[in-house]
Amino acid sequence: MDRGRSLLNGHVPRFFAAGFLLVLAACVSSGPPATDLLLNRDTLRALRWIAPAADKVRALTTEPVSCRNPHEPVSSIMIGDGPSFSTVDIGQLAFESPALLGGAAARMGLSCSSCHLNGRNNPDFFVEGVSGAPGTADVTSSLFSKTRGNGAFDPAPIPDIATRDGKQIKDRLSPEFDAKVHGLIVEEFDGRQPGEKIFREVVSYMDGLVPCAEPGARQPVTASRDMIAARKAFVIASFMDTPDERRLLARAARERLERLNERFTAANQTDVRAALLVASQKIAMWMDAPSAEGESAIRTALKTAAERVERDEPRSLYNPDVLRAALER
Ligand code: HEC
Repeated sequence: MDRGRSLLNGHVPRFFAAGFLLVLAACVSSGPPATDLLLNRDTLRALRWIAPAADKVRALTTEPVSCRNPHEPVSSIMIGDGPSFSTVDIGQLAFESPALLGGAAARMGLSCSSCHLNGRNNPDFFVEGVSGAPGTADVTSSLFSKTRGNGAFDPAPIPDIATRDGKQIKDRLSPEFDAKVHGLIVEEFDGRQPGEKIFREVVSYMDGLVPCAEPGARQPVTASRDMIAARKAFVIASFMDTPDERRLLARAARERLERLNERFTAANQTDVRAALLVASQKIAMWMDAPSAEGESAIRTALKTAAERVERDEPRSLYNPDVLRAALER
């Protein structure tokens, strides 16, 4: 990983961070013209789990249609000019964040949703040593699990959680399903059991998935979805009661900003990257020392980032044509 570019670099001591941001601001205005970044598995992490023969543009710019129950109970909370959210969003954000997993999977950048895109499946998923055919994974692989690695290579197709087909547990509110999800997080992916509130919402998110579209139907992957997710994750983090819950959602927010950062790679997109970096660093500092002022500064930073992301989305790697050209370079 090119450490210089990553937004998720560990914790920068606060006084350094302030200086760093000033230096960054100076580079943005007067630094030598950078060139467009080359794409590889370090600069665009999703390339780490795409089958070599897959249509990469399709795999990176579309995803299975989201099948969240449109009638799910929504307790919508709107904060200032930030996005509103429902409690099920908490579960979805955790499901879509590497922060729920541990070990090799989290280090690689994987989340539940890397395999279960939108809670569905991922026909293009492939990791050497974990997958057989594309779209399969050995979830008892010792690469991901200290405790469940069974030493056998037995990849299975990634199931579509919305359909509840095959041998999936149908009753998602049963203790059996709770035990299954606990086992997935803690044993298969070496994560830590999250707090009860987050765990319940992860289960509710999966319980709320219903078959909703033709198998194989896809929708575009958009920058605005990632930006909204980052903003929601931070707002929710600021509402959480325990430091662990707050950290998990704050990490989810930072990870979304990193995902956005990976797709604004053009030489003339430094101001987009700078805004994402500023927001991410502010969240990192807030995680160590939460404060009301910190919180409002982050909301402002996220709003600035959102404006720049929206302005430049057509020229970003979220646009299939721009991505295709970048992959060919
Ligand atoms: C590396 C890819 C991968 C990741 C990451 C992943 N899964 Fe899965 N998941 C699978 C595969 C493959 C199966 C089918 C396993 C089998 O048939 O034995 C599965 C099965 C499931 C099932 C069906 C279980 C049942 O019996 O009802 C659920 C629910 C599920 N996963 C949820 C999750 C959650 C939650 C996470 C994150 C904590 C997660 N998955 C992460 C690949 C993955």
